[in-house]
Amino acid sequence: MKIYFCCTDFKAEPWVAALRAALPQAEIEVWAPGAGPADYAVVWAPPQAFLDEQPQIKALFNLGAGVDALTQLRLPAQTKLVRLDDAGMSVQMAEYVCHALIRHFREFDAYAADVAQGKWSYRKPRLREDFPVGIMGLGVLGQRVARAVQAFEFPLRGWSRSPKELPGVRCYAGEEQLAEFLAETKVLVCLLPLTGQTQGILNRETLAQLQPGGYLINVARGAHLVEEDLIPLLDGGHLAGATLDVFRQEPLPAGHPFWRHPKITITPHTSARTLRDESVAQIAGKILALERGEPIGGVVDHHQGY
Ligand code: NAP
Ligand code: GLV
Repeated sequence: MKIYFCCTDFKAEPWVAALRAALPQAEIEVWAPGAGPADYAVVWAPPQAFLDEQPQIKALFNLGAGVDALTQLRLPAQTKLVRLDDAGMSVQMAEYVCHALIRHFREFDAYAADVAQGKWSYRKPRLREDFPVGIMGLGVLGQRVARAVQAFEFPLRGWSRSPKELPGVRCYAGEEQLAEFLAETKVLVCLLPLTGQTQGILNRETLAQLQPGGYLINVARGAHLVEEDLIPLLDGGHLAGATLDVFRQEPLPAGHPFWRHPKITITPHTSARTLRDESVAQIAGKILALERGEPIGGVVDHHQGY
């Protein structure tokens, strides 16, 4: 069995070593143009040339949960596209979202600013019932975040493509219930996959439907947000702030207004990192299952794009 590693932005050596340790029976190499056919590949944003050379490949294992960099490419027709299914990401996402939510709700930035000026001052406690949290995307990550937010007793809403029933979450589904979901939300968390349906979904019209004083936490993909729509809503006061982990262009270009806007907190696409041990164990387990002819989870629906 031959497996290629073809991942931009990842240091190949430790990954190849970990894959070889997990699958000693396999021949595992870093792909180079003209390297010949393989059975499987571990990929992240591979070049089109790689896919064009591998029409026979049985499955592509994406080193992330989001497959949007792959679905933009021409994929071999019969190849399974498999995304990371949690692999240690959901707890990181829960930490990140709860941190951003609580930092905003408890006004920790304002306290830090006071302390920096030597001020010992109190703010009026806020009511958590005034801060309903709405999670767009109730998949692997969205549901884990929902459980974590619930621990802090915020009112919780969720929105997905297909209807769901989740304990403690008021669930909405489909475009027809989006307006109701937004009107019931003050702190909006985006955990959608980037597809033709979700691109640009965070825009002037949708963000204006959040409750006054709304707050945006985008941890999904930069292209979910129409970036130029955000600042007028912040400056006009309808939105109180935003925490953004992902951007249309990454790294965020020098001079982009998000770097310095006082109501925007940015992080460099780090809310849920791909963890090597967990990812290799998951991918190796799935390759062995496929070799035994067994079904696996995390296979992307080409039609839905996630
Ligand atoms: P997932 O399990 O596939 O869940 C996706 C959720 O989005 C599902 O609930 C799905 O609805 C919903 N959805 C999809 N299209 C929709 C639409 N048109 N309208 C309404 N809901 C829709 O994905 P995941 O593992 O939770 O990951 C979610 C995303 O997080 C990834 O795609 C990636 O972009 C992002 N991510 C970011 C980072 C980071 O570091 N910033 C790390 C990991 C992942 P159904 O339940 O009805 O299918
Ligand atoms: C990271 O952004 C991922 O999709 O896993």
